[in-house]
Amino acid sequence: MRKKAKKPRVVIGGDHASTEAKPAVIAYLQSEGYSVTDVGTDNPSSCDYPVFAHRLCEEIREGRAELGILICGTGIGMSIAANKHRGIRAALCCDAFSTEMSRLHNAANVACFGARVLDTETICRLCDLFLSTSPLDEERHIRRRKELDEIENGTFDPDGKNNE
Ligand code: RB5
Repeated sequence: MRKKAKKPRVVIGGDHASTEAKPAVIAYLQSEGYSVTDVGTDNPSSCDYPVFAHRLCEEIREGRAELGILICGTGIGMSIAANKHRGIRAALCCDAFSTEMSRLHNAANVACFGARVLDTETICRLCDLFLSTSPLDEERHIRRRKELDEIENGTFDPDGKNNE
């Protein structure tokens, strides 16, 4: 019998634009059996998305969660903020194809959504896809992810790479 894959621990965060979608996404993920940590905000008053992106990234970097979900108006600010953290690969997810590819090829560990772009039901469906897809372990994808780490560490040398 095939062993069922263990569900990743999930952390979720968002700014004021997420306060309608985020509780619904949490309830949905919990109903699917995910353990979810919420780093806020629950307040619909205007706030700064980098604060919540930072809180979420620290949860992952310190090993308390494996995968993260960030929601703001467009998903753009959250993805920019999250990608400034070492070890974080955040993907702006707008549709099923890019969401799935962000895990398969890029091994993204944070999915970012725009609550003013997608309806809550679509965000829930894409979260499920993101969380249930595992990165491919093909050599070329592993090599490219390693190159991303090298760029982050300042050790990347593009000479002699597959750049034709
Ligand atoms: C807030 O109005 C909005 O700028 C924010 O939610 C997000 O879309 C930023 O990228």
